[in-house]
Amino acid sequence: MSRLGALLALLGFLTVLARAEDAVLKTAVEGKPFNVFQELKKECDPGCQQCNRELGECECPYGLSGPTCQVALWPACRTSTTAGLPVFVGRRAPRNCHCYAQLFRATCLPGSESRCSSHTVAQWPELKCFEQVDKAEQEQLSELPEKLDDPKYRWRKGVLVPAPAGGAAAAAPGAAAGRAEHKDMQTLLVAPTLKEIGDTMALSKCPNRCRDRGICIANSETIKTPSCLCHPGFTGTDCGDAVPPASLPLLCPNGCGGRGSCVAGFCACQPPYWGIGCSRSRAYQPAPDSISHPYYPSLKIYMYDIPISVVGPQPFDDSDTTVYPIYQASMHLMDMFLADGGGVRTENPWEANLFYVPTFAYYSTANLGDPTAAVVRAIDWVAAKFPFFSRYGGRDHFVVMTADRGACYLKPLNQTRNLIRLVHFGLEKPNLTEMGPLVEEREYGCFKGGRDVVLAPYFRPKAGVVRTVHEKLLAPGGAEELLKDKSVLFFFSGDVRHHEPEYSGGVRQALSALLSNTTSGGAGVPADVVFKAGFQPITAEEYEQLLGSAKFCLAPYGHGWGIRLTHALMHGCVPVIIQDRVRQPWEDLLHYPDFSIRVSKAELPRLVELLRAVPAEDVAALMREGARVYRAFVWQPELGGLAYNYTLASLRRRLSHIRGELYEAGTRRR
Ligand SMILES: *[C@@H]1O[C@H](CO)[C@@H](O)[C@H](O)[C@H]1NC(C)=O
Ligand SMILES: *[C@@H]1O[C@H](CO)[C@@H](O)[C@H](O)[C@H]1NC(C)=O
Ligand SMILES: *[C@@H]1O[C@H](CO)[C@@H](O)[C@H](O)[C@H]1NC(C)=O
Ligand SMILES: *[C@@H]1O[C@H](CO)[C@@H](O)[C@H](O)[C@H]1NC(C)=O
Repeated sequence: MSRLGALLALLGFLTVLARAEDAVLKTAVEGKPFNVFQELKKECDPGCQQCNRELGECECPYGLSGPTCQVALWPACRTSTTAGLPVFVGRRAPRNCHCYAQLFRATCLPGSESRCSSHTVAQWPELKCFEQVDKAEQEQLSELPEKLDDPKYRWRKGVLVPAPAGGAAAAAPGAAAGRAEHKDMQTLLVAPTLKEIGDTMALSKCPNRCRDRGICIANSETIKTPSCLCHPGFTGTDCGDAVPPASLPLLCPNGCGGRGSCVAGFCACQPPYWGIGCSRSRAYQPAPDSISHPYYPSLKIYMYDIPISVVGPQPFDDSDTTVYPIYQASMHLMDMFLADGGGVRTENPWEANLFYVPTFAYYSTANLGDPTAAVVRAIDWVAAKFPFFSRYGGRDHFVVMTADRGACYLKPLNQTRNLIRLVHFGLEKPNLTEMGPLVEEREYGCFKGGRDVVLAPYFRPKAGVVRTVHEKLLAPGGAEELLKDKSVLFFFSGDVRHHEPEYSGGVRQALSALLSNTTSGGAGVPADVVFKAGFQPITAEEYEQLLGSAKFCLAPYGHGWGIRLTHALMHGCVPVIIQDRVRQPWEDLLHYPDFSIRVSKAELPRLVELLRAVPAEDVAALMREGARVYRAFVWQPELGGLAYNYTLASLRRRLSHIRGELYEAGTRRR
């Protein structure tokens, strides 16, 4: 930013603050009521099942909208015209080509076709679709033909073609030349075979058409008669039964709080409840003529109830709702927040000092996708419905992104620039290139210290291991005793990916080369160094056993953040963090040198030597402290986990940071 730009930004911020302080002053001078609120009970259409009383808008299942949820947002994705049926857009069964085109228009950022908030659309080149040749777009449905080669149907597939030269995407700074792509469709001359479309067939071949709540499949080998594969939340031979939300806690936020049923990620709430996870029953507004201002003495977080059609769908496949556990922190964080763990939640945005923007980004990005479209859609909604986003340019709004690369791909835009990002990957590196052309934030790369938060990943500790190992470590002399039994100096097992130098920032590759270098002293790998390269080269039991018998365990990153730090701590092994410029979970709250060793990539050649030189009493002390801090890395409160508490503590610090930003902006730029 230029000096003038910085000055202007500072002046702008000062004006905003001055206005707020003015307001507070006015209450004193003019005797206006300050932070006095009254309940808000906006009405919805009488035909609405679930009314958001804050906005007076009806809450609808995915793909539906309008005062009584009568509007189909992407009509060609429906399998029938029966009103009120939820819409599913998984990837297994082909949909109507118009369905994909409608989704594409709704979920991809204009001028940036690679940035879409729909996981299905992100799979564009793998999509096959059909359309009825003699019907208008508004009559097209996603009901597969009974015969795949029915001449009344035409088959197409998604293709990516280079965008026209000089297009907006090509001109974007940071976009590598020739990478801009345009999503198109190509007509297939021959209808696909059943196998090519995942053994899916017309709903009419299945019992009760699976009640339009599933897809119909059969393959000659394992499933002989056409059977329903029900969409998430439904079960039974014809998908006629609903799965109780409590048995699908992650599919619907907080299991709908026990106050509703879960319809494919949407909580259909019992009155008077509404909102995400059926957690709302009240809304507020300032009393007439009163002045309202964020309440600063304690953390008060307001979460926006963004409609599922804006930030969904949540389950992204036709039947499978599984999210690999290490990516689940965002879901558990939300569940604990909805249950108001920690007493920080407010349903009154006028007194809130932080705003939680639920983007459900993981469901559209999966582990390596780009969250920009999901975040932009969420923020556009938030900024259109409430006055709070523009107040501080989004500085007091946060988003949670637990994919491998967290916020690396979050494009800097007005909607995203100032957001607080809660991520697993704290890579702080300007002018980042090795993560590919999607990294456009030149100033910080993936993470900005002081603003963003690194969350511990979600990992289910083995209660038995924790009990035996940690109890011993915390008992007097226990660490020393455990250390005596450790025969391995240093351990790592995992993928190396020699041909992907950016994987782990090159650490795994460099270490592999080093340890296989028999010319250095001729000794090769020392007997007490165990380095197993490959994707799961040893069994889970061997892996855990080695974590337990090693003094030091490598904690590198992978495609993005890594889980090894947590593994090492659980087994009483001292983590050796080799992640240049990557901030670790809660690094501003925990004192890492007390329980880990940090080595830079440049020091790798001396690694074994360095570790051997650590005195035994220091190793024992590191192990003991590791056991003491371990609960910060555990999300499960039933196991004493404090990860949620640490999240709140980090946000409290951000709160003072936001308030202190004025001061900092003044000093940092001097
Ligand atoms: C952590 O937070 C939970 C509520 O979420 C609270 O009940 C518990 O007391 C907290 N624990 C600590 C050690 O602060
Ligand atoms: C972004 O915000 C700035 C400052 O408010 C404004 O001048 C600019 O027009 C906005 N840009 C876009 C693309 O909306
Ligand atoms: C990043 O790149 C820009 C433009 O090339 C340059 O002006 C800036 O100094 C670089 N920043 C760092 C920290 O290298
Ligand atoms: C292997 O060891 C030799 C001799 O010490 C050294 O010159 C060479 O750079 C090493 N290679 C690697 C990949 O570390």
